[in-house]
Amino acid sequence: MNEQLPSLMDTYRDHFSIGAAISTRTMDVYSDLILKQFDSLTAENEMKFAELQPEPSHYDFSKADTIMGFARENGKKVRGHTLVWHNQTTNWVFTNAEGELVTREELLERMQSHIETVVGRYKGQIYAWDVVNEAIEDHSETYLRPSKWLQIIGPDFIDKAFEYAHLADPDALLFYNDYNETNPTKRKKIIRLVRELQDRGVPIHGIGLQAHWNIYGPSLAEIEEALQDYASLGLPLHITELDLSVFRFEDRRTDVKEPSHAMLEAQAEAYDGIFQLFRAYRAHIDNVTFWGVADDYTWLDDFPVRGRKNWPFLFDEQHKPKESFFRVVDF
Ligand code: GLA
Repeated sequence: MNEQLPSLMDTYRDHFSIGAAISTRTMDVYSDLILKQFDSLTAENEMKFAELQPEPSHYDFSKADTIMGFARENGKKVRGHTLVWHNQTTNWVFTNAEGELVTREELLERMQSHIETVVGRYKGQIYAWDVVNEAIEDHSETYLRPSKWLQIIGPDFIDKAFEYAHLADPDALLFYNDYNETNPTKRKKIIRLVRELQDRGVPIHGIGLQAHWNIYGPSLAEIEEALQDYASLGLPLHITELDLSVFRFEDRRTDVKEPSHAMLEAQAEAYDGIFQLFRAYRAHIDNVTFWGVADDYTWLDDFPVRGRKNWPFLFDEQHKPKESFFRVVDF
């Protein structure tokens, strides 16, 4: 039956590329699905700062190289993720031998040498990089998220990251990437940031919308408003980390051991509407990447609720297409 199964990447070839986040483990577990369904890959964790440079000047590219090799052998494009982030960045980056915070100059130097080394290594092989991840504060009136990068360097840490990445690979497309991107308050701040970068001539080439959503929201109206708003900046959009949790964010239940029929129906309905919108905005959207492949593994297992499984994708735990899949390929 799988022989006859439509392919996401082929179905969407004229719209946008279709990606999946993988690890060195899941690229083997899902190799059949990946080869047939996805034409763009992102390393879920293997290219983050702490993974690549766990200790000063000690780089470990083994896992990232394995993923790059897999992509190359199978003709898949790679999105790089991610260069500068407040998370999964080891504390040594910000401190000196005495344990004190480094100076702005020292941190800029560390940032540049990391970016040069990483982006330089995969120059010409990674078509797009998430250069800065999640620099905007979520709820409060605060604009930028408090972080060591901001505290030590100042707000232009963002400019610098893009400039260094552009120097390291002038052909790579450079993205700002964030979540809660449809939330009206946060959206305004993301748009303000991108506009300011553009006004200062910073080499930013796209906006990454993570799209960690659920079957209850954001609503299609909210998503459309957000797409419209972001599209008005004139930069390509990538949907970078799409998944649709079957739980509301506030839902803390741990007794759901399998997705109900109603959940799967609602999910299919939501995916259907979301992809209709993505198709309508195809002139602006160049890539749609899922933050995983099939329901047997997702970062949402145990997050944000310990001991709870989730089923956010188009393929089920047996790697079989769900109703959601058929709705996405049927248009
Ligand atoms: C954020 C990051 C991703 C990943 C997810 C959770 O969205 O951008 O790299 O860590 O959180 O998997």
